[in-house]
Amino acid sequence: LTQRARGRLFGVGVGPGDPEFVTLKALRVLAAADVVAYPAPETGPSFARSIVGRWLSRGQREIAIRFPMRPGPPPAAVYDDAARAIAAELDRDARVAVLCQGDPLLYGSFCGLLARLGSRYPVEIVPGVSSLGACAAAAAVPLVTRDESLAVIPATLADEKLASRIAAADTAAIVKLGRHLARVKRVLGRLGRLDDAICIKYASLPQQQVRPLAAVDAAPYFSMVLVRGGARTE
Ligand SMILES: C[S@@+](CC[C@H](N)C(=O)[O-])C[C@H]1O[C@@H](n2cnc3c(N)ncnc32)[C@H](O)[C@@H]1O
Repeated sequence: LTQRARGRLFGVGVGPGDPEFVTLKALRVLAAADVVAYPAPETGPSFARSIVGRWLSRGQREIAIRFPMRPGPPPAAVYDDAARAIAAELDRDARVAVLCQGDPLLYGSFCGLLARLGSRYPVEIVPGVSSLGACAAAAAVPLVTRDESLAVIPATLADEKLASRIAAADTAAIVKLGRHLARVKRVLGRLGRLDDAICIKYASLPQQQVRPLAAVDAAPYFSMVLVRGGARTE
């Protein structure tokens, strides 16, 4: 790092969706940013940007990082191109805030940029309210208490891995549900855990729904399943 560098990269968590969960620190960092970057679908608006849109100002340059909508991990080229565009701004001494829905370090697309830019530029990360906290709050269930452990499990895992990780957890938070819903229900049914499972859709947003998983037939991308162990007496 050279002394002259004022360029600074910020990973800014903007929370699960409700703008009231944006932190004071995130707002302060956003107000001081020269450039605001955010993940977005191939066409259409960015969810992360929509959460904080009211606080962005006209003078700020924007970089939309467009991810293809097809299943599977995003191509490395998307991160490479975004890292190049952001590095060009950082080299001009810009303060670049990368928005991230929820928390930037919990399955956040920011992780791909951190890997590419973190050793070359000063980085600051502003944690955000994660979907884990938001979903537990929506369902009013503890994530873990006492000596329990929590497993965060992507529904994208193959059946066997999914089953063994759920079976080993006191509480399982199953994320990235979407088109994997039927498979997750089948795996939980086989483990005898389907009736312990709650599905939370769009936590913190006006369309939030909390229902027993057994009664749910479709889940959007922004939904999560929480599976708590049997009855507890805290
Ligand atoms: C790529 S991960 C990003 C997580 C995010 N960085 C966080 O801290 O919550 C996306 C997954 O998080 C979960 N998720 C994020 N926001 C959610 C919300 N508002 N309600 C329910 N699930 C949510 C869903 O399982 C979704 O598929």
